[in-house]
Amino acid sequence: MKQFLGTLVRPSALALGVALTCVTAGAAGQAVAPISPISVWSGVYNTVQSKRGAELHSAVCVMCHGPQLNGAGQPEMPPSPAIARASFLRKWSGRNVATLFLYVRQTMPPDSPGTLTDQQALDAIAHMFAVSNLPAGERELPLDPKALANIVIDAQK
Ligand code: HEC
Repeated sequence: MKQFLGTLVRPSALALGVALTCVTAGAAGQAVAPISPISVWSGVYNTVQSKRGAELHSAVCVMCHGPQLNGAGQPEMPPSPAIARASFLRKWSGRNVATLFLYVRQTMPPDSPGTLTDQQALDAIAHMFAVSNLPAGERELPLDPKALANIVIDAQK
């Protein structure tokens, strides 16, 4: 199983690196005023979006990450990490939502990576945030790599 996941994850990690380089280059190449980063604690998704994400989770992610998103999935599935709450936020702390988005979009679910739409990947993240007790706001997480790159994941407020 290690081997199986390894072969799937390594090429995706490479693609992720390339994609991120593009995002960074794009941001640097633009002569727009820098926008100060915002935190995931400032209401960056809304409940309409996280509910869509919950439905997707129940259909596509639950068998591995479990109904509580704590990694307690079905026993025949590969051991899977928690994708919400303190330990997850700590692990991703300091990185931005664009990075998380690309990771989910390109590697999940590991048995058929690349099958989620951009919108589904983003909705899944909104659900992960809701379960992590991050506050909901007015607007959905936007399908805009630059805006997502400006939202920073912090373990604490
Ligand atoms: C077949 C089982 C499986 C399914 C289905 C699955 N995942 Fe995963 N997921 C994993 C495994 C295993 C890892 C750890 C991969 C690694 O560390 O290389 C992981 C890692 C993750 C991570 C990163 C966690 C961390 O600790 O950094 C996120 C986020 C994630 N999955 C989200 C999702 C979402 C959202 C879905 C549904 C759209 C999904 N996964 C479906 C098995 C699964």
